[in-house]
Amino acid sequence: MCGIVGYNGKEKAVNILLDGLSRLEYRGYDSAGLAIRDKKIEVFKAKGKLDNLREKIKGKRLKGTIGIGHTRWATHGEPSENNAHPHISNDGCVTLVHNGIIENYREMVLKLESHGYKFYSETDTEVLANVIDYYYKKYKNGPMDAINRTMVRVRGSYAICVMFEDYPDELWVARKDSPMIIGISDDGLYAASDVPAILKYTRNVYYIDNMEVACLTKNKVTFYNLNGDEIKKELKEIKWNLSVAEKNGYEHFMIKEINEEDEVIKKTFNSFVHNNKIEFPISDDELKNIKQIYIVACGSAYHVGVCAGYIIEDLTKVSVRVDIASEFRYRHLELDKDGLVIIVSQSGETADSLAALREAKSQGVKTLGIVNVVSSTIAREADYVLYTLAGPEISVATTKAFSTQLIVSYLFGIHLALLKGKITNKEYTSLIKEVSTLGDKTKKILDKLTNDIQKLSSEFANVKDAFYIGRGLDYAISLEGSLKLKEVSYIHSEAYAAGELKHGTISLIEDGTLVIGIVTQDDIYEKTISNLMEVKSRGAYIITISPENIDIPFSDYKIHIPNTSKYFYPSLAVIPLQLLSYYISVSRGLDVDKPRNLAKSVTVE
Ligand code: AGP
Ligand code: GLU
Repeated sequence: MCGIVGYNGKEKAVNILLDGLSRLEYRGYDSAGLAIRDKKIEVFKAKGKLDNLREKIKGKRLKGTIGIGHTRWATHGEPSENNAHPHISNDGCVTLVHNGIIENYREMVLKLESHGYKFYSETDTEVLANVIDYYYKKYKNGPMDAINRTMVRVRGSYAICVMFEDYPDELWVARKDSPMIIGISDDGLYAASDVPAILKYTRNVYYIDNMEVACLTKNKVTFYNLNGDEIKKELKEIKWNLSVAEKNGYEHFMIKEINEEDEVIKKTFNSFVHNNKIEFPISDDELKNIKQIYIVACGSAYHVGVCAGYIIEDLTKVSVRVDIASEFRYRHLELDKDGLVIIVSQSGETADSLAALREAKSQGVKTLGIVNVVSSTIAREADYVLYTLAGPEISVATTKAFSTQLIVSYLFGIHLALLKGKITNKEYTSLIKEVSTLGDKTKKILDKLTNDIQKLSSEFANVKDAFYIGRGLDYAISLEGSLKLKEVSYIHSEAYAAGELKHGTISLIEDGTLVIGIVTQDDIYEKTISNLMEVKSRGAYIITISPENIDIPFSDYKIHIPNTSKYFYPSLAVIPLQLLSYYISVSRGLDVDKPRNLAKSVTVE
């Protein structure tokens, strides 16, 4: 998703904007731009990477101490210099950058054209700049009024930083659904899509909420609601260090974050388990009353949901329905009033997941967020939140957040199973004890397998297709293994329920086709082995991931992981899959942390 940085203070804005945008590159983008105001507003834009923008401003004496910057992830209009932000209203009165989508922008184009406006780009953002300009000129009530009227009129999502020609000392910010934070230091005020952009300058931030407007001057910020009333905000302190959001000697964030998994698994476990008891910020009565669980998420978080669905259902005997967020919200499902909707999200800003949360709340159903980013929108809007303590995850491909989400899912299932009387205290204690070993078992895999998998990966750098198969929880993890490979190596891959392969897709198996079998589940592994034999007999190259006590003699490459409870194998099986994807991507010379077309947090639909 795009990155926004704004600054208004004592220092030269250009350096702060470029530094901030570079720390947001992980969010994914295709072009960039900035606007600096000295005597007048100067705009610079470039297609491609930030270096192209730096080239554009090389040698320019940009002394201005107020400005806005943007890395664009195109939704309306191709990635190009012309479509890059900032966008400017027709007569230059309004200059803005925007993260999100204006859904009714076509309607607004017609309205504005009828008032003589013209457009130079294909973006919805340019329309937004002119809508603000239209209301600014029509009602002559200043920037806040123009922005408020615009927020009432447009539909969609936005986080915007706006400069007005007539207000040289003010930077205006507004948001609905897209992320934005406001930072303050002795050197000025900052606006940014995410914390890493401004952490070098301040730990002190305000969270601007939906449909709120903020005016940033050189030394203070004032917040307003939609009625134009001033509102007070609590200053919060960011607890983590910028070094966590840096590579610390690793070649890529992805491999750094994979190697943090053992520690963050323990940290997340220890945040919920004290004296062998699971403690959640949800009352036992509230949990006991749950009759139906819905788990809703996107991408890898959805794969955590699939794992959690199997585990929670098996442990608690409560029906669990797992849904992709973008499907859930349009199913028009009448949710069980005694249900619980669990939204899993690393960023806490994913538009589809946020919309699903709001759909659940509109039906009066309790919601729980399993979220990594503190005070993110999903975390703030859910009735309850269980934070994963993965720390900032910079690589677009999630690894450590995924693993910590699994830990929270296990603990939720164990806790609910005891409350529902489905497991004994002895089983409760034993399950918790086994979860407590997963950090060390992860470390053992990393220490023992990394070099071998790095070697193995070089053999598959040019494979054309890969199939991941498994049953039950092994199928759930095969979904994640397949996505990891696609995301970072651009190799086509499919995850398949092992029992389903013979119903069509097996026709794709031919000599040398790579098939990765995840085989961890005691009660069904023999079935998966039969399915692997079926593809082996048709020429497939078989890589298997299984516990030390499950041997698959005909496997071409055996990856063994430590034994654990059947419920918790996803945490261990996923590590080799993450390493395999990472090293294949590296051997293909790709931009592992910022894969093409992808964004770290998809804040548009
Ligand atoms: C995972 O590697 C991807 N980056 C993507 O599928 C991600 O899991 C998905 O977009 C959901 O993001 P969230 O967890 O921040 O909601
Ligand atoms: N919808 C806007 C555009 O396509 C903003 C995209 C973004 O969030 O970067 O330019």
